[in-house]
Amino acid sequence: MNKNDEIDNNKLNLIEKPFILQGKVIHGFGRGKKIGFPTANLEYSEDFQKLSTGVFFGFAKLNKFGIFKMVMTIGCNPSFENKIKTVEAHLLHEFNQDFYNEHLSLIICGYIRPLIKFSSIDELLQAIQKDRDFAEKELEDSKYNELRKCENLDNQNSNQNQNSN
Ligand SMILES: Cc1cc2nc3c(=O)[nH]c(=O)nc-3n(C[C@H](O)[C@H](O)[C@H](O)COP(=O)(O)O)c2cc1C
Repeated sequence: MNKNDEIDNNKLNLIEKPFILQGKVIHGFGRGKKIGFPTANLEYSEDFQKLSTGVFFGFAKLNKFGIFKMVMTIGCNPSFENKIKTVEAHLLHEFNQDFYNEHLSLIICGYIRPLIKFSSIDELLQAIQKDRDFAEKELEDSKYNELRKCENLDNQNSNQNQNSN
């Protein structure tokens, strides 16, 4: 896929059956904060191996703080050639404290694009900003009203990742 391709929101329809990932927030490599898009990394699980990779959007729930829109990645962040697959979410909110070790629930509502190996940080930043703008607007749609409530998280855990990428 070309870096300039438009976000393809038709690829997946997770509204009826959102995909949910949950776990403890751990320290990542710390690059996100430096480049202006801090991410919450989920504690590594063997289950990540079977997940399809890409950039996704949805809602994040932190018991202590509330529910926020988010954009997230599943994969090895090819621009940095990570060796392990990570699940990390950028929450669309400015926090004035960190939330390491908190339990984070990610309700994935849709797929945005595949992970790309960018040749510069600027290109990566532009892409993340575009993902963020897309999610900010898209998640205002009333079709996400039920998912926004982040209810019955435990019951929905058995859903399978449906992205076929
Ligand atoms: C919405 C979003 C999209 C991203 N897209 C890509 C991508 O296409 N390619 C890539 O290598 N990394 C991508 N990243 C991951 C960043 O490289 C990663 O967040 C950054 O390296 C920080 O990681 P760290 O917290 O483990 O240090 C994306 C991150 C976010 C939040």
